[in-house]
Amino acid sequence: MLKTHSLIEPQDLTVEEIEQLFALADDIKNRPHLYQNACAGKLMGTLFYEPSTRTRLSFESAMNRLGGRVVGFSDPGSSSVTKGETVADTARMVSGYADIIVMRHSWEGAPKVASLYSDIPVINAGDGGHNHPTQTLTDLYTFHTVFGRTNNLNIALCGDLKFGRTVHSLIQAMSRYENVSFSLISPKELRLPQYLIDFLDKNKIPYKEVDKIEDAIAECDVLYMTRVQQERFADKAEYERLKDCYILDTEKMKLAKQDMIVMHPLPRVNEISTEVDYDPRAKYFRQARYGMFIRMALILKLLEVGYQPQKIRLQPTERHCKNARCICNMQQEPQQMLKVAEGVYRCLYCDYTEKDEE
Ligand code: CP
Repeated sequence: MLKTHSLIEPQDLTVEEIEQLFALADDIKNRPHLYQNACAGKLMGTLFYEPSTRTRLSFESAMNRLGGRVVGFSDPGSSSVTKGETVADTARMVSGYADIIVMRHSWEGAPKVASLYSDIPVINAGDGGHNHPTQTLTDLYTFHTVFGRTNNLNIALCGDLKFGRTVHSLIQAMSRYENVSFSLISPKELRLPQYLIDFLDKNKIPYKEVDKIEDAIAECDVLYMTRVQQERFADKAEYERLKDCYILDTEKMKLAKQDMIVMHPLPRVNEISTEVDYDPRAKYFRQARYGMFIRMALILKLLEVGYQPQKIRLQPTERHCKNARCICNMQQEPQQMLKVAEGVYRCLYCDYTEKDEE
């Protein structure tokens, strides 16, 4: 059984648990008839406060293929959110109706808050520009399926590394595997957040920061493209200036190894030319399909954990999170700036980090 009650951030699952999920997903993929009633009588609550195609539909397909049912909303405008209901109260309510919650929200830390108030497992389906752990499971399962390994990989991450939650979760998850290195390809405005640069340094993971695809494509095993996240920009003119900063085309693909693969969490805007879709190294549509099998495995394993009454009552910390996109600054959640090292404080919900002046 999994040690965690909910999947909120990539490190909630151990490497061994992820291996178990791979084995289960492989079996589901190969022998789907054995699982078609595995979730009979179970109900999934899908709370999508932000748009989604892949994550919501793959979770709903996963639950339906397991014989379970789904309730929820994809438009918060049709829910009591419009009357001012908090994430905490919504999670409490749905945990009285369903057996598992899947939540996407634009506020960073919202699924974490839901997990603190919910008696049933909560899955983070993407929280603002913070984390997207089930996309990471999808990405790892793609490595497992295509390469037969999740170690010994040079991964080039390209595009919006600042707001790209899939990138943030992937880096943290991959830190636990042997001989993994990264090329971080972004303009300086969309550089990886400092807390993740600190994370790479602390874990001694080799990386280089470059600003051109050509600076990394020849050596990588995986080129992981991302879109520039329009919805996270406060300054729309800046988005317009940066939106087409990278376009992968067949000319650039000529520089890559024959056994490298191109991945993308999707949706794509302009960053991969459609002509690349016909290159056998383009794996992004297959990657999206793999997401359904690994989510089926995750649902099954979290339902084994099941109902656990929550009794946590957090006391607010004196320090306050300064991330305006964090749920603790949107709703009346107790501030949780926790000391993680001497003079270093991190928000429990969104990972905003503050260091004392030397
Ligand atoms: N990869 C992903 O999260 O896609 P959606 O936003 O369509 O769910």
